[in-house]
Amino acid sequence: MKFDTPAGQNPIDRLKVVGQPTDRIDGKYKTTGTAPYAYERHDVTPSQAYGYVLGAGIAKGGIRGMDTSIARTAPGVLAIVTTLETPRMERGTMNTAYLFGGDQVQHYHQAIAVVVAETFEQARAASFLITVDYTPETGKFDLAAEAKSAKPVKGDSGEGSGGNGEERVGDFEGAFAKAQVTFDEIYATADESHAMMEPHATVAAWEGDKVTLWTSNQMITWAHESMAKILGIPKANVRIDSPYVGGGFGGKLFVRADAVLAALGAKAAGRPVKVALTRPLIANNTTHRPATIQRVRIGATKDGTITAIAHESTSGNLPDGDPETAVSQTKLLYAGANRLTAMKLALLDLPEGNAMRAPGEAPGLMVLEVAMDEMAEKLGIDPVEFRVRNDTQVDPHAPDRRFSHRDLVGCLKLGADRFGWAKRNAKPGSLRDGQWLVGVGVASAFRNNMVMKSGARVRLDEQGTVTVETDMTDIGTGTYTIIAQTAAEMMGVPLDKVVVRLGDSDFPASAGSGGQWGANSSTSGVYAACVKLREAVAQRLGINSADAVFEDGQVRSGNRGVPLGEAAQGGLTVEDTIEFGELSKTYQQSTFGAHFVEVGVDVHTAEIRVRRMLAVCAAGRILNPKSARSQVIGGMTMGVGAALMEELAVDTKRGFFANHDLAGYEVPVHADIPHQDVIFLDEVDPISSPMKAKGVGELGICGVSAAVANAVYNATGIRVREYPLTLDKFLDRMPDAA
Ligand code: MOS
Repeated sequence: MKFDTPAGQNPIDRLKVVGQPTDRIDGKYKTTGTAPYAYERHDVTPSQAYGYVLGAGIAKGGIRGMDTSIARTAPGVLAIVTTLETPRMERGTMNTAYLFGGDQVQHYHQAIAVVVAETFEQARAASFLITVDYTPETGKFDLAAEAKSAKPVKGDSGEGSGGNGEERVGDFEGAFAKAQVTFDEIYATADESHAMMEPHATVAAWEGDKVTLWTSNQMITWAHESMAKILGIPKANVRIDSPYVGGGFGGKLFVRADAVLAALGAKAAGRPVKVALTRPLIANNTTHRPATIQRVRIGATKDGTITAIAHESTSGNLPDGDPETAVSQTKLLYAGANRLTAMKLALLDLPEGNAMRAPGEAPGLMVLEVAMDEMAEKLGIDPVEFRVRNDTQVDPHAPDRRFSHRDLVGCLKLGADRFGWAKRNAKPGSLRDGQWLVGVGVASAFRNNMVMKSGARVRLDEQGTVTVETDMTDIGTGTYTIIAQTAAEMMGVPLDKVVVRLGDSDFPASAGSGGQWGANSSTSGVYAACVKLREAVAQRLGINSADAVFEDGQVRSGNRGVPLGEAAQGGLTVEDTIEFGELSKTYQQSTFGAHFVEVGVDVHTAEIRVRRMLAVCAAGRILNPKSARSQVIGGMTMGVGAALMEELAVDTKRGFFANHDLAGYEVPVHADIPHQDVIFLDEVDPISSPMKAKGVGELGICGVSAAVANAVYNATGIRVREYPLTLDKFLDRMPDAA
């Protein structure tokens, strides 16, 4: 189905099943521990051996030799594959770093061997017996030091943000120089780790020249293509299966060393092999969100109309890597006749920087929305009002392009009302509650709505059961449930008459889970397949599909009603793919929100506690308010992490992330997160898809860190421009406690 005109009325609009806050249909498997995650696929193939990945002990240089002779005689060892005996392997389509092969080390903990043994402990113990003769070279690991030599680059996150090295509208410098009120500051955001619960893990088994990988991956079609390329075999000889994913956040968009080394280990051992990356390898072997240094300049009239806005960002990456696209939202969020956005990239020899939840916007809004707060204060205008005053309904770079739907102002106003913003004390450091200095902050949320081609197969059997198959993944997001809701709505059956099967490369290729495009795109694919199935049913019954009503498990036409199963004698299977036309180009499609946060800052210790959070989101039709809310509060939680604690500590001498486990790399726990409210504006976006939905999975993280930072400033009067806002950055500036 080609989607190239705005959606009219369709069966989804009935909202009998879609739009309802349904519990997850896979919830019982997860809560009873029976949902099989990659490392637990014990039943898929017999006699699985364990692979343990050895990571490089240097960050840059060569490997002269590796002695595996002792390791090979260690108990239980079945095979060892080293990087020296493997020619450097091709990279997957989206990878920057080479995953295996050759004698060059690009980054610390790059995989240099896999040891396969009967047990995990034996494999790990044997790996310690391998000796490696390195020829280390000096690397570049310090973004601040390398920023001076950074070059302008174009780049895109692969998730809908990005652009040219420099983009301009009007004359920024001229307008900034003439502006009545100006603002110019520099900020820094930290390297962050996805820190998902489930590590990267794969079970691999060969049958002749065909390999099956039971793995944990967000994008089956990318994984399928990449593994064929990396292993140098036809796609038809690779099968990927990833029905449950315990979090990914962008870290599992691409295949990583676990998949490659499980395949190589299994080949060498002549047995199925399972490999999980250990926690340290997640930080240093896989990808991370790159740190940034950002400069924001805003010029405005005295009454708060922005006349000039500039946002520049510098980040680092390996050669061939992309910049963090942190300036992206600044092209679209606020009006202003004169504009400049620019990205620079410094070459660093740290592990690969790549997409992490809302790549670009998450660190970009962390900065832009603090700058907006600072500018509002300078202007003496309420920060909500300042944002409202500078709303735009068109793309400022191409004023003919309207937003498909944009209600940022609605989010800000409703949020201000519900949060009690009017009670805010504009004078920072002036509200005290016992030992706590109390403040509130606001920020806008913005994230583009990408749409991606997505296919599905639906089957109707004689019992009236609808089975949906698509290689779409559920990365903890609720995909199983919204796909079931979509099929149930389209076919007029209850949810328990729908079976959803996901994550298998044998199923039709879907949009996959990335860039918050998954829910809207994959359900649209299911919608397309169901339209086809409805036609097939109608044809069987000899009725006009336009007259057929699919309801209560029946197909009705006039006063004739046939149970759905009866119309499917012998079964009916159809397949279709939704393809998106020009609408995503003629219109700017984005999602919007407003975050409100209240914090308390301990007047003695500068400990920061979040007390209250509210997000208002405008993201088209909400397919399932319960799972959508979970997505948004998850994003808000990650945003608190980025604001207050998440930081990969760079050892700038040895070139690695030193806090490579969950003891050192802190993420928010339940005790850190207080009451969270989420309100969805009641809207539909017929330009986006037949579902009239948009993405929401990344909107929740966008801007929330700035709202936290602005609340901390409102509480203390101390502005810290270097994330995360740890108490050491406040202590010596805290107001007198007495
Ligand atoms: Mo992307 S960072 O996996 O949504």
